[in-house]
Amino acid sequence: MIKKIIKYVSIKYYDSSYERRRRYLIKKGAQIGEGTRIRNISSFSSEPYLIKVGKDVLFSGEVFMTTHDGGIKVLNSLGFFDESNDKMGRIIIGDNCFIGQKSVILPGVTIGNNVIIGAGSVVSKDIPSNTVAAGIPAKVICSIEEYYKRNLEKGCFYPTGNMSSQEKKEYLIKSVK
Ligand SMILES: CC(C)(COP(=O)(O)OP(=O)(O)OC[C@H]1O[C@@H](n2cnc3c(N)ncnc32)[C@H](O)[C@@H]1OP(=O)(O)O)[C@@H](O)C(=O)NCCC(=O)NCCS
Repeated sequence: MIKKIIKYVSIKYYDSSYERRRRYLIKKGAQIGEGTRIRNISSFSSEPYLIKVGKDVLFSGEVFMTTHDGGIKVLNSLGFFDESNDKMGRIIIGDNCFIGQKSVILPGVTIGNNVIIGAGSVVSKDIPSNTVAAGIPAKVICSIEEYYKRNLEKGCFYPTGNMSSQEKKEYLIKSVK
């Protein structure tokens, strides 16, 4: 019983902190769908109003999105324009995506639905729906179906979703290869 209460309170706490962050960014002008979770050390650029994210997306820690290219500073200083310019691009992410830890998403990029972005990727071009992309620059490495089959064969999946953190710890210590 006590375990269940602890689990309920911790889920509520995490859910509400994700929800607070989502609402804060929406107030700043970002469009972010229901159920999208953003870990705290992530950046929605200095122009969050140029970012649109779908439903049920998970941003891992330290994801950086930027909607401007500071390189314009060099052109401005060299006098390429009559007045100082900015170089901008929107970022659009579909539904049900996972953005891996320490990824960078550059201006002008669109990521489709059901996409996994690998840890440490730099996403500089559009990524199609139902794919896994990774690397610098991020390239499609496989489809979502292939990712499922490969990892099923490798035996990397564990049914821990509904366990308390203590149960999960005990189970994983025994089970992970
Ligand atoms: C991208 C990812 C989803 C691929 O998972 P997978 O299908 O099990 O990957 P594999 O280990 O079979 O690798 C497939 C290929 O992609 C490469 N690769 C995997 N992850 C990569 C990454 N993050 N960056 C660059 N290349 C990567 C592998 O080196 C391998 O290359 P090869 O075919 O030339 O040998 C996974 O590696 C990843 O980065 N997950 C995110 C982890 C994360 O952010 N965790 C935080 C938790 S909140």
